[in-house]
Amino acid sequence: MRELGIGLIGTGFMGRAHALAFNNARAVFELPVHLTLAALADADTERARRCATAWGFAQAHGDWQALVNDPNVDVVAITTPNHLHYPMAMAAIAAGKAVYCEKPLAVSLEQADAMRRAASAAGVVTRVGYNYQHNPMITLARQMIANGELGEIVSFQGEFSEDFMADPASPWSWRCEVAHAGGALADLGSHLLSMARYLVGDVVSVCADTQTVHGQRPAINGSAELKAIAVDDQVHALLRFANGARGTVSSSWLKHGYKNHLSFEISGTKGTLAFDQERLNELRVCRVGQEGFQRLLAGPALPGYAAFSPAAGHQLGYNELKTLEVQELILALAGQGADGTDFEAAWEVERLATAIRVAAKEERWVTVNSL
Ligand SMILES: NC(=O)c1ccc[n+]([C@@H]2O[C@H](COP(=O)([O-])OP(=O)(O)OC[C@H]3O[C@@H](n4cnc5c(N)ncnc54)[C@H](O)[C@@H]3O)[C@@H](O)[C@H]2O)c1
Repeated sequence: MRELGIGLIGTGFMGRAHALAFNNARAVFELPVHLTLAALADADTERARRCATAWGFAQAHGDWQALVNDPNVDVVAITTPNHLHYPMAMAAIAAGKAVYCEKPLAVSLEQADAMRRAASAAGVVTRVGYNYQHNPMITLARQMIANGELGEIVSFQGEFSEDFMADPASPWSWRCEVAHAGGALADLGSHLLSMARYLVGDVVSVCADTQTVHGQRPAINGSAELKAIAVDDQVHALLRFANGARGTVSSSWLKHGYKNHLSFEISGTKGTLAFDQERLNELRVCRVGQEGFQRLLAGPALPGYAAFSPAAGHQLGYNELKTLEVQELILALAGQGADGTDFEAAWEVERLATAIRVAAKEERWVTVNSL
């Protein structure tokens, strides 16, 4: 069986999620290749060493370039702050390696465009961490839409809100820098835009409003020194889809009470589907003629669920979605007809997010493919 060496950059929130997913994927699925955890890199060398031991990686590097150049690494997984995706992915592509990059793809449309072009020219497999799309209930929703169970789709109303920045005393982080990240739209909204495209298709035009509510935040936790903030805290947008459907998307990291509220309602001429990531094992559906919604619960009839549990209602969690994402990446690397978000699709998400920013700034409708 072919061996594939995984090199993972970053040991934060997502670094840990990727490490768990690679370990779990080996345990849960009969993969067509043998995965080896070849190397782990972090700017903090000591932490890279500790995490490599705990997570089962053979090598630890303080310099990510050493990981990219490591001959045992075939796939470079990037879980660093957004502005580092571009240099790391471009170096990996130049070395002929597959890239599994966290979202959003980049911090500018120009960077995202260069990344998709480089990947295409090099012929390497790429994937981006839009993990929520790997939920078996989302697969089911997509099938129901494709089968025409909702009729002609007329509306997508989506929201992705959390409250981790709701306190004005929540300190500055890389997520608050325009050059390093891009605010609630980049952080949360990108997942929602990717989901909207995945389920309803291309978006033709947008108009939007973005707002920075807290213009200053402490430089570090508890500090009296304040840093100016220019990124959006919340965004609201109207969408027109290529298939004629209309939509709304909104995203906030200030909305008290919400922890992972990636939610949507999709309505068609024959019914409505509703989903909320805070109840990720459920899908609510109302078909024409029903008085109200029926609640569908995830169970082993869905292959992605059955891989983890033979019993309905026992529930998948966030880390299982990440494991399903890794399975899809490996199938793509083995040439086995997979269905993930590659750099081309992630660039489309960046183009849509950029159109929303331009529409908000210029207070007008923007045609997405004019960018
Ligand atoms: N898919 C999802 O659901 C999801 C969720 C959270 C974050 N993310 C994305 O994951 C990425 C990382 O977010 P996070 O929350 O894990 O951030 P984090 O701050 O927790 O971790 C970032 C990691 O990158 C490391 N790092 C920074 N500079 C580096 C360098 N030059 N070389 C090597 N390592 C370096 C840091 O030491 C840290 O380990 C972001 O792009 C974010 O948007 C995705």
